[in-house]
This record gives sequence, structure tokens and C-alpha cells, in this order.
Amino acid sequence: MAFAINRLLAALLGAAALAAALAAPGLAAAAPAAAQRPWMDPALDPDRRATLLEHELTDDERIALVHGDMAMPILGAKIPAGAIGSAGYVPGIPRLGIPALQETDASLGVSNLLEMRRGDVATALPSTLAIAASFDPALSYAAGAMIGREAWLKGFNVLLGGGNNLIRDPRSGRNFEYYSEDPLLSGVMAGEAIRGTQDQHVVSTVKHYAFGDQETGRMQFSARIGEAAARASDLLAFEIAIERGRPGAVMCAYNRYAGVHACENEFLLQRVLKGDWGYPGWVMSDWGAVHAVAAAKAGLDQESGAQRDPKIWFGDPLAAAVRAGEVPRQRLSEMVHRILRSMFAVGLFDHPPVPAAIDYAADGTVARRAAQQGIVLLANRDGLLPLPKTVRRVAVIGGHADAGVLSGGGSSQVIPVGGVKRLVPVGGEPPFGPYMSMIFGGAAPYAAIKSRVPQASVHYINGRYPKSAADAARRADVAIVFANQWLGEEGDAPDMSLPEGQDELIAAVAAANPHTIVVLQTGGAVRMPWLARAGAVLEAWYPGQQGGEAIADVLFGEVDPGGRLPVTFPVDEAQLPRPVIAGSGLAGDAPFDLDLGEGAEVGYRGLAARGAAPRFAFGHGLSYTRFEYGGLRVEGGGGLSVSFDVRNTGARAGVDVPQLYLTRGCAGEPLRLLGWSRVELAAGETRHVTVVAEPRLLAAFDTLQHRWRHPACRVEVAVGASSVDLRLRGAAALDAATIAP
Ligand code: BGC
Repeated sequence: MAFAINRLLAALLGAAALAAALAAPGLAAAAPAAAQRPWMDPALDPDRRATLLEHELTDDERIALVHGDMAMPILGAKIPAGAIGSAGYVPGIPRLGIPALQETDASLGVSNLLEMRRGDVATALPSTLAIAASFDPALSYAAGAMIGREAWLKGFNVLLGGGNNLIRDPRSGRNFEYYSEDPLLSGVMAGEAIRGTQDQHVVSTVKHYAFGDQETGRMQFSARIGEAAARASDLLAFEIAIERGRPGAVMCAYNRYAGVHACENEFLLQRVLKGDWGYPGWVMSDWGAVHAVAAAKAGLDQESGAQRDPKIWFGDPLAAAVRAGEVPRQRLSEMVHRILRSMFAVGLFDHPPVPAAIDYAADGTVARRAAQQGIVLLANRDGLLPLPKTVRRVAVIGGHADAGVLSGGGSSQVIPVGGVKRLVPVGGEPPFGPYMSMIFGGAAPYAAIKSRVPQASVHYINGRYPKSAADAARRADVAIVFANQWLGEEGDAPDMSLPEGQDELIAAVAAANPHTIVVLQTGGAVRMPWLARAGAVLEAWYPGQQGGEAIADVLFGEVDPGGRLPVTFPVDEAQLPRPVIAGSGLAGDAPFDLDLGEGAEVGYRGLAARGAAPRFAFGHGLSYTRFEYGGLRVEGGGGLSVSFDVRNTGARAGVDVPQLYLTRGCAGEPLRLLGWSRVELAAGETRHVTVVAEPRLLAAFDTLQHRWRHPACRVEVAVGASSVDLRLRGAAALDAATIAP
């Protein structure tokens, strides 16, 4: 295997010499003089280099570049020769020095599904939702860079990371791989993660374009949403991420949009992505998302994981279609050009991976920081938290907190540093059921809590029986209950409950001891029927391999809980646009419509428009200190700029995320997040912050004029600590504006 050979050669030659060897010619081929490879001149722009190289290819070579194999031993597939063993592999062309594409998942770390690379671990970050909860673009960049660097050091040059679907439903199985319900927050955070990854010379792939917002019937549903609302919601999240991050690749989704599969959807691929947004990179399919050669004409550039399709469409069938003139030869060249262009732009030719040891200790600090900044303190009655170090008796209950922290399932599954600490098979029917397991890894919260209070008596009770847990809680000064909701790819939760009797467990413990702290490890919002009795609630998401330590840091006040909710926590399913998940109960392959009737009024926006109060609002999160806002100045004209003071009025340092909302737009639009600022302030400190509104959020997309527009008008804005806690209000006059898509 190339990886093993590279390692061996690296040991013999030294890393730098191997890099040079891989960068220049193919190892097997005789090296033509540099003058014969003008595309290797890094001074040329990526388009020029791609053009020069593309001209040298034969049609067979072009076809070889536009489809790739699944490179994991699953569903009967084998790891192809030359592949490291990961999600995907596209062989290189040694004669011209084109490197193979070694593609690995995903957004939370370098994944290793089913441990296909025995013993290979990677730094496991908290879920993308947790990163979003930090509201810290710099953290998202650092996370993306950390994954990109580990991927590169393992020999990968494409990361299938950059999950950026809008979170429209708290029950969706892959929410933990996505950022938020808000297009601006999602777009900014995703864009920064992409930039971080690509700065390591690894292509980042933003996905799943578009409207792949639920797992139920993901191969069958067709998303229904009007164009203006589509442009202002899911598409805006992609648009901002792509502008900011310039990802080398975009992965089209499994589902259909307006009746047409996303990977052969001319509107999504040609008109919006490549046309309006001028996207110069390549569109790769999701694994098993291609249904016909015609996808090439609609804008798909590369078929991935081709064994999962009924045919390798972009192999012989595409070659035949090009010969027959059904797909123009020019289009095949363009497909290849786009792939090569991104490879040049991101540095795959000039900076090929040099497998080497990874500094997992250093990367672990990124995971720790991410978890600390992402944990959201939802409720804290009578200042129960932070816990004093003088606490004497602590009961830690449930959630496998004695073993490690929970992670989400599916293609993004990382095997954390330290390995799997506990694996609980979930079971289910083939093909995927047998592969599904809850994986616990990283620092165990129980040990981390114990280490903070070595003099205390700290006991762990597994929580299988509410009665035993309640008895233990009664004997303790404080009870800390861990409650889990495991979610993963290929399935949604049917409702917002905590499964396996955990609601009853929490209720029993909270009834036994009012000093009960609930630590949630969930894929998103859950119902909380026990909330009134709980002393404090922490949302830890899937907190990554340093999550146990970060939870203890927050519980004992070593850090201020830095997170704010990137999604609304509704009271229950009745507050959702679809109280029952679309397609549930339908036969496996029956097509259906996913009617996104809420349009762009997703999450907090929809609730505000209806005047409904959520359980916990978008943007909510408590600190151990207090913040006050004042001195609002709103400037309109050719844009909107808002400045104000944030003051830490408490007795300790802390983190705040003041948010700027549009409360009344030009066309009377209801609430929209226009921007935010994340500040860390010492006790008594004041910071003057300025937030400049994203102009597309002040406008509406005019489908007739094909432009974002707003007339000259007066808008109202507010600064607040959440979408319902609006504290400063102001207004400004805006000039009329038109923005090209
Ligand atoms: C997922 C993608 C993933 C791919 C390769 C698909 O099932 O939807 O997100 O990148 O598999 O593992």
C-alpha cells in the first residue's frame, strides 16, 4: 500500500526527500525535465496550471480522474491498491505527476470507521454543534486546521469535512456534524473550518449540498421550498461558507430538491453554485448519490464511492456518452479542469502529504479548548454551579461517565486518542445495523471529576435503576447525572425524548436531591420534563476526547462556560414545523416530499414570528459572571454598523456573546441574527464592540430581478444575550441596496 511504502521510504530517505520525490514525478515513471511540466511552476495561477496539465491527458486518463472508489472494507468493497484505507480513493496519474486523491471523513477529526486502519487513532473534537456554540470563528479555524494537519500527516489530501446543512429539526441524526439553524452562524463557522483545513494543503469538502437536512428517507425525499426562501436559508449558509473558505470541493447530497436529485440538479449545481456564486472547484457526489450519466451534464464533476452506485456511471458509460457526443468532450475537460484546479489551488502538487508522527498532546489542547468553549450552561438555580472544591460527597450517575464521553455515529466516527474505551452495539437490520455502536472514548468524566476533589468521596452508579441512583443521590451533597442521546448517520430520533428511561432516571435523582446537575451529551435539543426539579443543566453535546476534562473544568468553575446555543431548544415536538418527521412510517424506498414550509423562518425565527416561547432560546447560555450592555449606536446609510459597550459587572472573569438582531426589516421581516461578538472580560472590565451586519440579511432575494434587494427604509435592531433576551434597541435608515447573488 502507498501509505506503508511512503512510511518506509520516509524512514529511509527522510521526510523532505520523500516530499520532493512525491511532488515532482510519479515514483514509477521516468521524470521528464521540469520544462516539460510547466504546470509545476507555482508562480502560475491554478487555472493556468490546470489548463496546461489537462491538455496533456488522454480521454482514458480524464475518465479515471472523474470517478473514485470507496476505499473501506464495508458492504463487500475492498480497499483498492494504493489507497490508505478511508472513505474514498481516486488513483493518480504517475506519468504526469498527478497525485492520487486520498479522501477521508470528516468534520470532527480524521475518521476511522469500523477501525479499518487497525489501531489508528486521531484527535476527536467535540461535535460541530459544540464548535458552533463557541460563536468563535477563530476556534473553528483552529479546529479545521488541526484536522487538516492530522489528515496530511496521515497521508490524506482530501478531507470530506465541512458539514454545513442547516439544522431544521432537532431530531435529525446528523445535526452533530452541522453547525446551526442560522445561515450566518453556519456559514461563518464552516468557512473558517474550511480555511483552516485548506491552509494545511488538504482540500476541504463542504457538504451535503443542498437540503440534506434529515436522515429519514435521505435517498427518497425531495425538499420543497421556494427559491427566495431557499436562497435565504440553506443556500445562504453554503454561499457564505464558500465565499469565506473557498473549499476545493462541494459534495452534493443524497436527496432531491424540487424533484431532481441534488447530484444532477442543474439549478443547484450549474445555476446557483457555478453560475451565481462563480464556484471554480469541483462537485463530488456523495457515496451512492449518482443515478445517471446525465449528472455530468447537470454539473456533477466526479462520482465518489462509485461501488455504491448501481453502475460506475462516470467510468465506461460516461466514456461512451462522450464518444457518442451525448456529453460534450468539452464538458469532460471542464470536469477534470475543476479537479486539477482545486488540487493546484490548495497545494496538493506543491505540498504533498509527508506521513510523520502527530503531536497528539498539542492537538489535544485544541480539543480541550473547543469543548470548554462549546459547553452551554442552560440552567443554574441559585448558583448551584460552580461547585466548591470543598464538596464532600458526590454521586456521579449514568451515561457511561465511568468509561468516556459519547460520540456520534456514522462516517464521521473518529477513534479518539487512547482508543475506544467502551463500545455498546446498538444493533439493527443489515446493511448498516450490525455496524452501529455507541462509542465512548477520551477522558472519563467520572475520573476527571474525582481528580478535581481528591479529598471528597465520589461514587459512580450506572443509573440502570432509578431507585438505586436516587438512593445514592440522597446520600450525596451533589448528584451529577449524565444523560445521553446517541445519534448517527442513516437515522433520526423519532422524538425529542432522552431514550432508555433516562428521563425517569433524572426525575428520580432530582426528586431525591435538589442539588442535581444534569450533563447532557446529545445530538441536539431534547425535551426536559424534569427541568423544574433540576438544579443545573449543562449541554455538553458530544464533547470530544477532552470532553470529560472540559466538563469537570466547567463544573468546578476552572473555566467560564463559553457556549451559547446555536440551535433553539423547543419545549417539545409541537413547536416544530413538522411535529412528526416527514417520511416516518413510509416503506424504505417510497419517495416523498419534505415540505420545508417554514422557508427561511427556521428555528428561533419561526418561533418569534409565531410569538411562541422556546424552552431555551437560540443564543442562550449562562456565565458564572454577569454582563450589562449600554451605549448603543446604530449607523445606517449604505450598510448597518452597530456599536455598544459590554461590561462584566460580576466578580469574576467570563465569556459573553452579545448578539445583534434585526427585529424589523425593510419588508417587515421578523427576527434575524445579523452578527455577534465574542468577548472575554475580566471582572469589572468594559469593552466597546462594533458589529457590522451581513448585508444579505437586510435584504430579500428577488427571484425576478435575480438580486438581493431592499428599498430605502428604516430598520429596527436589538442587541441581546439570546434571541429572546433583547436588551438594547435602536433603529436606522438604510439606503436602497442591490446585491448580486
Ligand atoms: C456520507 C458522507 C461521507 C461519505 C463517505 C456518506 O454516507 O453521507 O458525508 O463523506 O459517506 O464516507
